[in-house]
Amino acid sequence: MPNRFTLEHRLPRDHSATSLRTDVLHGLATRPRTLPSKWFYDAHGSELFEQITRLPEYYPTRAEQEILTRRAPEIAALTRASTLIELGSGSSRKTRLLLDALTAAGTLQRYAPLDVSSSALTEAGEALCRDYPGLRVAATVTDFEQDLALGDEPGPRLLAFLGSTIGNLNPAERQSFYGTLRHALSSDDTLLLGADLVKDTGTLVRAYDDSQGVTAAFNKNVLTVLNRELDADFDPAAFDHEAVWNEAEERIEMHLRSRSTQTVKIPAVDLVLGLHAGESLRTEICSKFRRDALTSELATGGFTVRHWWTDSAARFALLLAVPTR
Ligand code: SAH
Ligand code: TRP
Repeated sequence: MPNRFTLEHRLPRDHSATSLRTDVLHGLATRPRTLPSKWFYDAHGSELFEQITRLPEYYPTRAEQEILTRRAPEIAALTRASTLIELGSGSSRKTRLLLDALTAAGTLQRYAPLDVSSSALTEAGEALCRDYPGLRVAATVTDFEQDLALGDEPGPRLLAFLGSTIGNLNPAERQSFYGTLRHALSSDDTLLLGADLVKDTGTLVRAYDDSQGVTAAFNKNVLTVLNRELDADFDPAAFDHEAVWNEAEERIEMHLRSRSTQTVKIPAVDLVLGLHAGESLRTEICSKFRRDALTSELATGGFTVRHWWTDSAARFALLLAVPTR
């Protein structure tokens, strides 16, 4: 492995012990019962997510890829970024379009991906170092909601947050995230944000409930994580995967619905969870956006949208925003 790749662990050592316990206790004690989504992404979860991005029903990856293919040279020219930072980078597959354009523009020195999944960062980093001989890859394992960990990277910096992961935060979490981000960025830095758009319910539900059952396996993987990390005794087969469109909030909600009346033990948090048949745990929200509302929530968060691009079918948006002066 060339020493152009570094992987820094910034999660506290007892992160999964403490943070997961708090999340689980808090989430399961309140109604609706929820489980926090970042715990989907252990090594197996990251692999399942990669499979999701290739499913015929899961259009967001292809739609965003289409926009990036068309706009990456323009983004490189507008930003002239020396450092590309990426939050929730996963496999960094689409990111290659940005790396290619910034390399061609001659400005790029460093790629700094951040993710909770160290396996995803390691795999992506090794492949990128192989394929981009001049590039330094400085990866960080961290939770972007707790710690943005932007260090001494050379500017101007382009901060990419792709895949509509922003939609996995609720409106209050998004505001606090924009606030943290606004503080971390300087006036010559740029935010590149990918956001999935409101569209017909059938297309949306199918994207999160595919015919091969990959999304169902991804959803149930969170139970396996709890079994491993907290000694819980969830039986994944005792739950049904569900994707529901919440019309009022304009978001897809992922649920695990208990097939029977059952009791689940979670010894590490001293919890015995009684579930009725049909009772559900909400595992994720995937908010869908409209241009005006997203532009105005970013304005409230201290960002001015400068460019708004969509794919040819107007399913997905990629926007470039700058800190408001
Ligand atoms: N950007 C990729 C992956 C999106 S999936 C794409 O567009 O395809 C969401 C990614 O964000 C996963 O890699 C997951 O591990 C990461 N992630 C989710 N919550 C996170 C958090 N709180 N902090 C850091 N990374 C997180
Ligand atoms: N950011 C992705 C999205 O909202 C995450 C995602 C894709 C996801 N498929 C999922 C999350 C299935 C939970 C379950 O589209």
